[in-house]
Amino acid sequence: METQLSLFGEPIRRLLHDVDGFDWNAPRLLEDYEDLKDEMKEFSDYNPRWLKVHRAGPMGMQHALTWKDIVGGGRVAVGYYRQLRGEEIKEHTDTGCMTRINVLLTDGGCTLHIGGNALSYSAALINVNQYRHSVGVADRDRIIFSLIFLDHDYHEVKRRYGEYQETLVAA
Ligand SMILES: [Fe+2]
Repeated sequence: METQLSLFGEPIRRLLHDVDGFDWNAPRLLEDYEDLKDEMKEFSDYNPRWLKVHRAGPMGMQHALTWKDIVGGGRVAVGYYRQLRGEEIKEHTDTGCMTRINVLLTDGGCTLHIGGNALSYSAALINVNQYRHSVGVADRDRIIFSLIFLDHDYHEVKRRYGEYQETLVAA
């Protein structure tokens, strides 16, 4: 993961936690996306060209169950998002969830601005509920698979994931 620090930014540990080490199987997530993409709808009046579908296929549902287990129960929703080429995502805070994991399924440089930092990631837990954030213009369509945590916040998911990783090491 590349990171760029701004002098006045929040510490990155409060904003974004890399979950690259988890086996996301991006090609399978993208295959499932192909079956769902015709159902995509506009995200909001504020960001009208940000498309979403709150469904997943078999791979995404399996991840949702695994992460529900990792965090010890509660609600974990799923979704795919598509940011169209040449469109930015304007600054906002995610109020409908406590935190989320985004898995980037496409190439193409684009930058997440959050808490005074400009970050790029391939798979990350992001503190979208506590910090305003925006996404720069992408030079091609940008597709994301998202796990949406409704009952656990960023710090809790991060802590539980750390415990889960320790069980893997111990096994
Ligand atoms: Fe967001």
